[in-house]
Parts: sequence; structure tokens; C-alpha cells
Amino acid sequence: MSATAEMPYFVRPSKNLSAEEKERAYAQAYAAIAATLTGETNELVAMVTINSLLKTYLPYFYWTGFYLVVAPDKLAVGPYQGTLGCLSIDFGRGVCGAVAASGQTKIVPDTHALEEGREHIACDPNSRSEIVLPVRRSDGSLLGVFDVDSTERDSFDAIDQRWLEKILAIFSESVLPLRATWADYAVSR
Ligand code: SME
Repeated sequence: MSATAEMPYFVRPSKNLSAEEKERAYAQAYAAIAATLTGETNELVAMVTINSLLKTYLPYFYWTGFYLVVAPDKLAVGPYQGTLGCLSIDFGRGVCGAVAASGQTKIVPDTHALEEGREHIACDPNSRSEIVLPVRRSDGSLLGVFDVDSTERDSFDAIDQRWLEKILAIFSESVLPLRATWADYAVSR
């Protein structure tokens, strides 16, 4: 364990998995997410459910959550599980901002090797490696980014990217943009 700050009672340090263990854990998480979200069209419900089930099955997922596009060049924290997340991030700043700006996934083997404040934003000093993926809607627009932190180095690789892309595809395949969902809800009331 390489934690550098005390952790609240509700989180535990990460435990890295082998490639074989990862494949098994992701297959279980994917099956649970697919079963739980069958027929679900609400974006928010999908986000909170994905956070919970991934954190349940993947023991190195220390911080798990979404940053949502709230302005042409700004992200704000959305649903997440873990210690306190930074409230907002500008496009181009940190790992999340870089992914929002480029639309490309980033895997960071060691966050301490990045320039703090510009290339990486340490919302929690225990974060030691990270993966951030873009999340798109069916019209191709950027919903935001999905961010996972681990307290260990080298927790993420191509296996994580493949499975997380498969899971996040739900946002461009079956879930409706929030604005549509709420509008429908308002009308029905
Ligand atoms: N580390 C991220 C910021 C979000 S926290 O990890 C929750 C970044 O550099 O963009």
C-alpha cells in the first residue's frame, strides 16, 4: 500500500489484480450492470448504478465517477463514489480536462510522475494511478468523462479500457439524455 493520507472509514486502499482476475471481475461486473440496467433510459440512474457495481467488483477502484460537460470548456463533478472529488475542471487541465479536450482515453501508470496542477489534479493525495475515458451520447456529443483512480501504481491497462468502453457504450446506445428524460417526466406529471 502506498497511501499518503489517512483514509475515511468507508474507503479501502486498492488491491491490484492479475490479467486473469481482471477479466473475471469485469465479466461479473458487466453481467450485473447489463441485468440491472435492462430497459433503463435515465442517464443519472445509469451513472450511479455503474459506479456502485464497478466499485463492488473491482477492488482497485478507489475513486469511481463521472465529470459532466456543463459549458463548452468546463466539466463539473457528477455522480461518484469515493473521497471528495474536485468540483470543476477546465478542458485541457488535469487528466480529465485533457480527455475532455482530446476525446481520447488516457491511462496514467503513475500520477506522481505528472506535473501537478497542469497534467494532473490531485483531488485526493492517495491517488496513484488513473484511467479516464470520454463518454458520448447517441448523437456523438460529449456527455463528459469517466474517471477511475487507484491508490496503487500501474493498476490500469488495455483490459480496463476495453471493458470500460463496452460498459460506457450504454450512454450512446440505450440511455436517453437527461434533458429529454426530465422533460418527459415534467410533462407526465
Ligand atoms: N485526477 C483527476 C481529477 C479528478 S480526481 O481524480 C477525482 C485529473 O487529474 O483530472
